[in-house]
Amino acid sequence: MRLSLTTLVALLPFYLEAVAAQGSSGNGKTTRYWDCCKPSCGWPKKGNSQSPVKTCDKSDRPLNDGGNTKSGCDNGGNAFMCSTQSPWAVNETTAYGWAAVNIANSNEAAWCCACYELTFTSGPIQGKKMIVQATNTGGDLGNNHFDIAIPGGGVGIFNACTSQYGAPSNGWGERYGGIKSKSDCASFPSALKAGCNWRFDWFQGADNPSVSFKQVACPAAITAKSGCTRGNDAINETPTGPGTVPTWTP
Ligand SMILES: *[C@@H]1O[C@H](CO)[C@@H](O)[C@H](O)[C@H]1NC(C)=O
Repeated sequence: MRLSLTTLVALLPFYLEAVAAQGSSGNGKTTRYWDCCKPSCGWPKKGNSQSPVKTCDKSDRPLNDGGNTKSGCDNGGNAFMCSTQSPWAVNETTAYGWAAVNIANSNEAAWCCACYELTFTSGPIQGKKMIVQATNTGGDLGNNHFDIAIPGGGVGIFNACTSQYGAPSNGWGERYGGIKSKSDCASFPSALKAGCNWRFDWFQGADNPSVSFKQVACPAAITAKSGCTRGNDAINETPTGPGTVPTWTP
């Protein structure tokens, strides 16, 4: 069948909507981190959103800087990750939080402040779900990789926790993986204790569980804390990642 140009143009909006509604999905891996650094989506104009991810000063007070303050991970910088971006349990089977991500065939413009529903597929929390908002990107992350922000989860490559909270020089616990038991959370700064404990309560001390994931509209409870909402969040949004909208010629 040969469709006329008029028909194709008339159908285009429905086609784009169908493609957009799919969002990103697949199988992925997780790790954990809390480096205290300003998350990369905390800089202006990273994704399709009015304001960047909220960041805080050294004393954990929200900055009102339009996202322009240098990261605490850079010499002399005074923008850090806010303790309010720690994970929490919504109920026994659902948790909310944030992550540094890398999605296959996509890019930071497409994932900054987008939300993903993770269903854990291994370990003690298999079957539980967590919705994370992407607030950060990691050059060291593989494809479909969610590095979940959990206080005490290890600082990884960068470390602003020593300058912000006086943590040991490699952060709390091991540089990768962080502390090993809930009792270590007791000595944490008070603002980070709940998020630290969450790892041993709701998360059951799971060690980098695998996930299946799909992009979802962000819960308001998440965007209220991060201060970042995408223009047409998830469902109505045309993906900007390469290869997500096939080209066609009439
Ligand atoms: C847990 O919370 C989520 C998100 O609000 C909800 O979709 C789910 O039905 C709740 N589950 C239970 C068992 O209450």
